[in-house]
Amino acid sequence: MLELQSNEIHLWVVEDQLISDESLLAKYQTLLNAEEQKRFERKIFPKHKKQFLVSRALLRSVLGAYLRQAPEDLVFARNAYGKPRIASFEKSLPISFNLSHTNGLSVLAVTLEHEIGVDVEYLTRKVDILKLAERYFSEQEFLDLAARDVKDFNQHFFDLWTLKEAYIKACGMGLAIPLKDFSFHFNNKRLGITFDAARADNPELWQFWQFVYKSNFEIALALKLNQQQGLSKIVCKQGRPLDKFINAEIEMLKYSA
Ligand SMILES: CC(C)(COP(=O)(O)OP(=O)(O)OC[C@H]1O[C@@H](n2cnc3c(N)ncnc32)[C@H](O)[C@@H]1OP(=O)(O)O)[C@@H](O)C(=O)NCCC(=O)NCCS
Repeated sequence: MLELQSNEIHLWVVEDQLISDESLLAKYQTLLNAEEQKRFERKIFPKHKKQFLVSRALLRSVLGAYLRQAPEDLVFARNAYGKPRIASFEKSLPISFNLSHTNGLSVLAVTLEHEIGVDVEYLTRKVDILKLAERYFSEQEFLDLAARDVKDFNQHFFDLWTLKEAYIKACGMGLAIPLKDFSFHFNNKRLGITFDAARADNPELWQFWQFVYKSNFEIALALKLNQQQGLSKIVCKQGRPLDKFINAEIEMLKYSA
């Protein structure tokens, strides 16, 4: 059984490559409901099938342990933009969570009450940086990126990408929020957000964190509070669903209070 304090965020991290045990993967499959089973069957490549199984097992087993429910009994609903929430038991424990997966890594962030968003990307992912940045970043972010020298150009692109995704995921509206309507800015180890007039939001209510995980992955977390309060505490756990997790150290790159 898992406990969660009101000022804590638990960040659960699973690397696909650590799971090769067929009997464990078979157990994961027994947790899927009919809709998840169909999604699993639609995936063609074994690595995508495995990633899907691992992320569903992570979601169901961890949330089940907080909610004192069998993983396979959890019922999820989605908002109009696709953000999942627990459909049942919501009132007994106001749990808030968000999931992100990328090539080889699944990350689940869990907290109480407050809206949370998480995004993970792998840093060697090949993308047309300038094209994406011009299309999705605010003018200020684009200029800031373009001014970077070669050695931190890629890293800074992923800093911005993951933070912007974490913010829209916390809001729960995906790309219905124009990504140009808000900007992240960095000052040494601090980061902040500003909103255009079109986006009525308050920077004081947001907390953000960013980590590099195992040098290959970048993780960003966004948390919206109801009122200004002290920085939340992050507890990171690394391991295998339905098996073992240990507390893990992750390098904190930047954060904002
Ligand atoms: C769908 C979206 C919410 C995240 O997509 P993503 O980054 O590809 O995927 P992630 O792995 O981080 O997150 C997917 C998970 O987020 C959750 N999710 C789905 N819709 C969501 C929403 N509206 N809000 C928050 N979370 C959502 C789900 O749990 C989903 O996993 P599941 O379908 O297996 O349950 C949306 O932001 C999107 O389409 N982004 C496109 C990425 C992009 O082009 N970004 C440009 C930045 S430069």
